Amino acid sequence: MFGQERIEFKTPDQVRVMRRAGLVVADALDAVRAQVRPGMTTADLDTVAGAVISAAGATPSFLGYDGYPATVCVSVNDEVVHGIPGARVLEPGDIVSIDCGAIVDGWHGDSALTLVLPEAHPADVALSDATERAMWAGIAALALADRLGAVGEAVEEVVDAMDTALNDGMRYGVVEEYVGHGIGTAMHQPPDVLNYRARARGARVRPGLCVAVEPMLTRGTQSTRVLEDGWTVVTADGSRAAHWEHTVAVLESGIWVLTARDGGAARLLELGVTVARLD
Ligand code: MF3
Ligand code: CO
Repeated sequence: MFGQERIEFKTPDQVRVMRRAGLVVADALDAVRAQVRPGMTTADLDTVAGAVISAAGATPSFLGYDGYPATVCVSVNDEVVHGIPGARVLEPGDIVSIDCGAIVDGWHGDSALTLVLPEAHPADVALSDATERAMWAGIAALALADRLGAVGEAVEEVVDAMDTALNDGMRYGVVEEYVGHGIGTAMHQPPDVLNYRARARGARVRPGLCVAVEPMLTRGTQSTRVLEDGWTVVTADGSRAAHWEHTVAVLESGIWVLTARDGGAARLLELGVTVARLD
């Protein structure tokens, strides 16, 4: 944890394979987004994502990871991350985070999004939007930064500047107990990608670095605990949470968001960043 672990820098050809994995994950999440509705179980969402991954000839990366029993994580309401799909029936107004990973030819993609089911509470939509914006700000920071610490600074800057009227004037909690990570021939690699300001400046950002940027925000505390199932992470105060994640490659000519169909072009353009692509 002193930033000395070995980072796996990728060649352009390796990034191209990671892009294929990234697009499989994007397809799986798109299918979930298109089909999710109240009345479905969280296990139904797992089935939808699993079908897309196997139809693509890819392998789900979560299944069997440290004994994890499913293809996706589905985290509902006060669940932050690592919710295990099962018999839980989704209800109107639930805030649902879906996290998915796939492997193509040994290379990983990892992405998550949050959806609010109708009738959505505006405060929950605002939370998800804030989290997504924080993620894009973190990704944009990567394009300009020489140190990875810029990601967490950008995330916190967005949270500091956020309009909190819909959250009773309370700042969103930035979860610190779970962080983003390097990704490549394994889902989790060094370096850690913090979502918060830290004393250490972080690993050097240079071409070939591939990371998952994944802020988790809550409508209350930043503190979490793990349920008895050993996986499900919930907010300590029961407040609702959101989680957005993309896998990003740093290239000679800029960054490429491997799990976004447009490579991140649209959202990064708004932030003044041009995307580099290898296809
Ligand atoms: N994809 C998650 C992450 O973003 C990890 C999932 S844990 C697993 O790091 F056990 F479900 F695989
Ligand atoms: Co991840």
